[in-house]
Amino acid sequence: MATQTQNKAVHLEDNILTNLESDLALELLRVVEAAAIASAREMGTGDRKKADHVATETMRRVMDTVPMRGTIVIGEGERDEAPMLYIGEKVGRAPVEGFTYPEVDIAVDPLEGTNLCATGAPGSICVLAASERGGLLHAPDCYMEKIVVGPACKGAVDLDAPTAVNLKMIAKALRRDVEDLVIIVLDRPRHETLINDIRRAGARIKLIGDGDLAPGIAAAVNGTGVHAVMGTGGAPEGVITAAAMRCLNGYMVGRLTGYTDEQRERMTQYGISDVKKTYTAEELAPGKNIIFAATGVTEGSLLQGVRFFGEGVRTSSIVMKMASRKIRFVEGIHLEQNKEFAVRF
Ligand code: FBP
Repeated sequence: MATQTQNKAVHLEDNILTNLESDLALELLRVVEAAAIASAREMGTGDRKKADHVATETMRRVMDTVPMRGTIVIGEGERDEAPMLYIGEKVGRAPVEGFTYPEVDIAVDPLEGTNLCATGAPGSICVLAASERGGLLHAPDCYMEKIVVGPACKGAVDLDAPTAVNLKMIAKALRRDVEDLVIIVLDRPRHETLINDIRRAGARIKLIGDGDLAPGIAAAVNGTGVHAVMGTGGAPEGVITAAAMRCLNGYMVGRLTGYTDEQRERMTQYGISDVKKTYTAEELAPGKNIIFAATGVTEGSLLQGVRFFGEGVRTSSIVMKMASRKIRFVEGIHLEQNKEFAVRF
């Protein structure tokens, strides 16, 4: 009898969920929010591995409450090196008779900017992108040369063009001088020439220690003070950025680089025939039903970090659904059970 009642409750809950217009996007928002809250507790501990582990573990646990048949296509690595959220891993709530959950491919970066979180520096986020099967390129954990810009700069940049030309084109599209641009670049020795070229052209640079995904999203949102992200960063981050660009109508070009022979072989298996190809966001994330969700862990250009207060926690997130053209900035207040509380605006 108890089981029958429990089943009924699950059915009812499922019914409600399947009837909600943006159920999966909001469910996935829950996943990144929970991971951000958990990893924010590790802020400043200096232990990047633990912060990442906590985010991964939390994401995995909450994903298993989401009504979906999910497959991780970009995750924490291969099964033997990653105990959770490894490529090919199945995630989602156990099936309930009579309900068919959507099949989704998921790209996760449980904690993007592990060092940033571990040192309390700005810019770390918990992030994922989802799509129907086949809607996200299965990029291995190699590098990607990228340029990420906003909607006004569509088609204005080219990975093979000189940096000065790209900057001129961005400035023209944004109707400002090159001197007024702010370009985000990862502070790495490999970017010495790029940084010198940007400086010579007269644009302003913000060098970041880690985390080129969040600035990529910021570049596609007017008013953030970020006009482009340039340089070489992680390929998985590149695909997730591309998913965000699809939702924000942003523009991006990316080319895989720094791969090992083994990764190159795997790319062939994943259907990547031309490893030297320059991809657009549409090719990196070709899905028709893309969902993107991210929550700030430490403060950033677009999202605030997690804030703990006496009665609960406050989070800042962005959740986007490409097909229904919805972009939500969500300020979440997560209150502790059985505690008196007063909510502040
Ligand atoms: P983690 O979150 O795994 O620490 O990666 C952070 C990051 O800075 C990414 O944002 C960036 O794309 C990549 O690492 C750059 O790689 P590298 O540190 O090897 O230059």
